[in-house]
Amino acid sequence: MPRKKIALIGGGQIGGVLTQLIAQRQLGDVVLFDIVENLPQGKTLDIIEASRIDDMNVSVTGTNDYKDIAGSDLVIITAGLPRKPGMSRDDLLVTNAKIMKSVAEGVKTYAPNAIAIIISNPLDAMVTLFQKVTGFPANRVIGQAGVLDSSRFSTFIAMELGVSVRDINAMVLGGHGDTMVPLVRYANVNGVPVQEMLERKYNDAKKAKEVMDAMVQRTKMAGGEVVNLLKTGSAFYSPASAAIMMAEAVLFDQKRLLPVCAYLNGEFGVNGFYVGVPAVLGENGVEKVIELTLCEEEKAAFDNSVNAVKSLVDDMNRLGL
Ligand code: APR
Repeated sequence: MPRKKIALIGGGQIGGVLTQLIAQRQLGDVVLFDIVENLPQGKTLDIIEASRIDDMNVSVTGTNDYKDIAGSDLVIITAGLPRKPGMSRDDLLVTNAKIMKSVAEGVKTYAPNAIAIIISNPLDAMVTLFQKVTGFPANRVIGQAGVLDSSRFSTFIAMELGVSVRDINAMVLGGHGDTMVPLVRYANVNGVPVQEMLERKYNDAKKAKEVMDAMVQRTKMAGGEVVNLLKTGSAFYSPASAAIMMAEAVLFDQKRLLPVCAYLNGEFGVNGFYVGVPAVLGENGVEKVIELTLCEEEKAAFDNSVNAVKSLVDDMNRLGL
């Protein structure tokens, strides 16, 4: 079977880690694109110079020319500014929308059959814009947010309960902003509800709820916590890993059920918007959105998050972006 071709648009922090992970796992040939001259060429040279050590039998090249992404099977987009301390993801809207438009034009022209995974923020708006400009079928345009947010939630639960993070199943739905919705009731450790484990640990329902609330809050603000520590940019190792999990699901047709930013056609009562929901990912991108029952409180939180996405998309349209 010929190797897959993977284009990475944006050769900054996340783009660099993505390149290295793809090469080390030999997921396919990589073309790293950036507008900054010599940056993608330098990063890819650095990475392939470890190919003897890491056993990377794939081609890894850097470019400033969209022509070189021609024929890509998968495109992962990280082009755009990251946050600085004090900024919300939404503050990036105007700058990153302009960047995303040009990226979408480039991908539409040179990789019209690709599946696209978008990481640039504000995520839900950037995915919406990319789909609109390319006109790609909605199932071929997917946003990465839920896999990372859920991994962050799972990490905090594992730390609190003193169990392996591998046994945690926890999902975060909604938009990739401060209104995101960690699903507390469904969070479990190999089937054992996290809420029950906390109640047993503290033998006090009120204290258990406080601990859970704190983990939910930390999850919602987890990106900002990293920004405040780094000061010069935002998280990049974990977003790259999250996108790799999605890329593998698509490249190897794994049919994984993952929380991703997907286009909704009436599911969860939402029509015509990209929002974070559980979906089956395979060779066709988003192959099915999986609905689940939300209690009143969860539904209200989800609707609130959807409204935040809608108002950002409205802003984008109103500003003519
Ligand atoms: N086309 C292609 N690349 C561009 C363009 C453009 N029009 N404009 C900027 N870039 C490149 C920059 O040159 C830079 O190398 O995008 C890259 C972004 O890299 P970083 O600044 O290091 O940001 P990173 O941490 O990788 O995050 C990228 O993902 O998580 C989100 O909020 C984050 O929006 C940000 C994006």
